Amino acid sequence: MEPPSLLIKSGRVIDPTDGSDSIADILIQNGKIVQKKSFIPVEKSMAVINASGLVVAPGFIDIHTHLREPGFEHKETIASGTSSAIAGGFTSIACMANTNPVNDSVEITKLILQKSKEAGLAKVLPIASVTLGMKGQKLSSMDSLKEAGVVAFSEDGKSVKDSSVMARALGRSRVLDIPIIAHCEDQELSPGGVMNEGPVAKKLGLKGIPNEAENVMVRRDIRLARENGGRLHVAHISTAEAVGLVRRAKRDGIDVTCETTPHHFTLTDETVSRNNPDYKMSPPLRSHSDVEAILEGLADGAIDAIATDHAPHSPEEKSASFENAPLGIVGLETALPLVLNLVRSKVLNLPRAVALLTNLPAKILNLPQGRLQIGAEADITIFDPNREWVVDPANFKSKGRNTPFTGRVMKGKVVYTIVGGKILFKGETNDS
Ligand code: DOR
Ligand code: ZN
Repeated sequence: MEPPSLLIKSGRVIDPTDGSDSIADILIQNGKIVQKKSFIPVEKSMAVINASGLVVAPGFIDIHTHLREPGFEHKETIASGTSSAIAGGFTSIACMANTNPVNDSVEITKLILQKSKEAGLAKVLPIASVTLGMKGQKLSSMDSLKEAGVVAFSEDGKSVKDSSVMARALGRSRVLDIPIIAHCEDQELSPGGVMNEGPVAKKLGLKGIPNEAENVMVRRDIRLARENGGRLHVAHISTAEAVGLVRRAKRDGIDVTCETTPHHFTLTDETVSRNNPDYKMSPPLRSHSDVEAILEGLADGAIDAIATDHAPHSPEEKSASFENAPLGIVGLETALPLVLNLVRSKVLNLPRAVALLTNLPAKILNLPQGRLQIGAEADITIFDPNREWVVDPANFKSKGRNTPFTGRVMKGKVVYTIVGGKILFKGETNDS
């Protein structure tokens, strides 16, 4: 039998790897892109997607997702999380190590890869913990974990407190050419803090987390990377000063990258409601001037990627008081329209916005993904930048309902998510 071919016709094709942005057709065969040109004639054997009026981009890559399995399956499973991913246009997601048990072993890494394969949706790239059990003392077996398919190391949720341990991890990361993803927070500076320190926290009577808790750790980790070499990637950057520190470090030739999240560039602490723990996450929503600095960083390249920090919790857990509820919000299914807002407000052009979701995060993790070149795996996201919809968490594929965007009108929706040449998600189309 002829191998099935899929023709994506007349979309606005954006490939950030070669800067191309034009109306074109793409032909997929055996899971790979085999042709990309302004006109490919339709043949009988081809299935056809009419992408006219739609944007055709490399599949989105989220380098910061919490899948919760093993151990916290009531919050999310690999199956529900990857289903959420493809609904949001993400074809590859890197999952954090703070599961139960922590992913500090080849065995857990293999289990995650096996379960992801069984789910058969988005590609899952495991991240292992920097230290055994995330206890901050003994380094995990970084060499064998890399061998087993881990794409980064991270203690996300907290910092590696002991600077000598972090220094050794960075040293190893240089040898292995694999990033350490640093959650930069000195928790001694934010005891009991639940939101950004400042006038809003004061008004709401909530304990604050100062910018300095992040700044001091970003400063330390950059210094350690300068002294030890290594590949430092700063997770969910949220303060103006931290963006400035990364910008300066890059100018000084230090190998450092960073990401921010859609909530950190969209919301300020002024939106926080004391009755709604869906505004509680780590790092917290910051001030207006911090958001301005993040937008500047996204535009000028100080910030290298947009990541969701998708952090599902159960409705029961999030129904606690603001002080007692767990940290984090879901993000996979709302990321695209929030990124497109930056295009509409002229912070980014569309190709740069696409790059921040595709080839730039791929570069950080040394992945072959994030491009629409001939011969590449056909991981492709097709979206309608203008389709409006209202966020109703009941419709999420994620088990998590914890979003601060409930009821918000969003503009921009995924229409097709294609992984390895297969259409795994189909949203509403103008034809349907
Ligand atoms: O808000 C957050 N939630 N930030 C983190 O760093 C960890 C995450 C989680 O695991 O829930
Ligand atoms: Zn996280």
